[in-house]
Amino acid sequence: MGNESPANPFVPGRGQLPPYLAGRSVEQNALMGLLAYVNAGRGAPRDAVLSGPRGNGKTVLLRWFQKEIESDKSGAEVVAMTPDEFSSVDGLATALAPPRRFASLVRDSLSLSIGVGRLGWELGEAPGSLTALLTARCRERPLVLLLDEAHTLDPDIGRALLNASQRVASEAPFLLVLAGTPRLQAHLNTMSATFWSRATKLGIGLLDETAAAAALSRPFAALSPSVEFAESALRQVVEESQGYPYFLQLWGAALWEATWNQGATRINEAIVGDTGAAFGRERVAYYEDRREELERQNLRQLAACVADAFDGRRTLRGRELNAAIQAASEDESGDDTLQRRDSLAAVGYVWKPPEAPDLWQPGIPSLMDYIQTHAD
Ligand SMILES: Nc1ncnc2c1ncn2[C@@H]1O[C@H](COP(=O)(O)OP(=O)(O)O)[C@@H](O)[C@H]1O
Ligand SMILES: [Mg+2]
Repeated sequence: MGNESPANPFVPGRGQLPPYLAGRSVEQNALMGLLAYVNAGRGAPRDAVLSGPRGNGKTVLLRWFQKEIESDKSGAEVVAMTPDEFSSVDGLATALAPPRRFASLVRDSLSLSIGVGRLGWELGEAPGSLTALLTARCRERPLVLLLDEAHTLDPDIGRALLNASQRVASEAPFLLVLAGTPRLQAHLNTMSATFWSRATKLGIGLLDETAAAAALSRPFAALSPSVEFAESALRQVVEESQGYPYFLQLWGAALWEATWNQGATRINEAIVGDTGAAFGRERVAYYEDRREELERQNLRQLAACVADAFDGRRTLRGRELNAAIQAASEDESGDDTLQRRDSLAAVGYVWKPPEAPDLWQPGIPSLMDYIQTHAD
């Protein structure tokens, strides 16, 4: 070694995938299964919803899926967006079916507004016009819509989209994939009583130990075959990151730097020990952000009580969690217990994977320990 170090693979550019996307084959297969319908010219039998606390890999999974779709030139088209990219149903319609390409399909039944230098749909209030437009558009060319940060979707636009998705997919090759924080379920329920229960729900949580180890060791093996990862060192990093993808990438980046700086050929416990300090500083910064967020939302004391209730356990039953929340609250009626639980879930403090039994877990590993240690 001693050469110029190659770009750190654990610090990918914006829009890039992590160096190795680990432990998501179930979710990947589910998405590919839905795509197969669309590529075969049929609507997907279900919409898909990815949900989980931040930092677990929803965005990269969507990005992976986007690349998969794009790589098949004869297959469906894909549009990847976030809700901040459109401010009305018309804006969404224009992004999904650009009038320059698709105006002729529905010219007689829908109106177009032509502004200076731009062309956009003006669908009006007529119910079903978004459905009519998208159906015609998808018959022309199959479409997959990936909508990230869907928990920030405007309820009126969301209502129109969810409704249209259902109808379009029954007539034409269309697939809708939403991703968002655990707040997404409640948010979608305000738009459609049945969308959530009908969708394919994919919980995006912590990686298991094997996947976490692969997320770290594979990139080293692939990019720097002369560097060996000592088994015990790898186990230690996996344990300290607790399978949280965001932490794994921080560890990977720091280990990569240290390995190159030292010209090491073996990542052993000594290197892991040195690197742990750098990782620890980043983790504290991250926890501080989360703590401030809880504070701003007036949830910090509640969070400390919930941490006490977990008492180091990996899971808590729903009624145990609710009891802890109610005990911590001024309101003796317990009316706002679920609301307060949702608020904690929204910031990733607690989480229950969709379709799992009623067992809650910490959303961001060791954040509870941090909140407990730094309670005043
Ligand atoms: N399956 C995975 N394997 C390896 N790294 C991952 C995986 N999923 C996510 N990451 C990394 O974890 C970090 C958080 O991922 P991101 O997709 O932004 O999470 P989210 O959208 O859920 O907040 C990123 O650095 C990403 O590259
Ligand atoms: Mg994201």
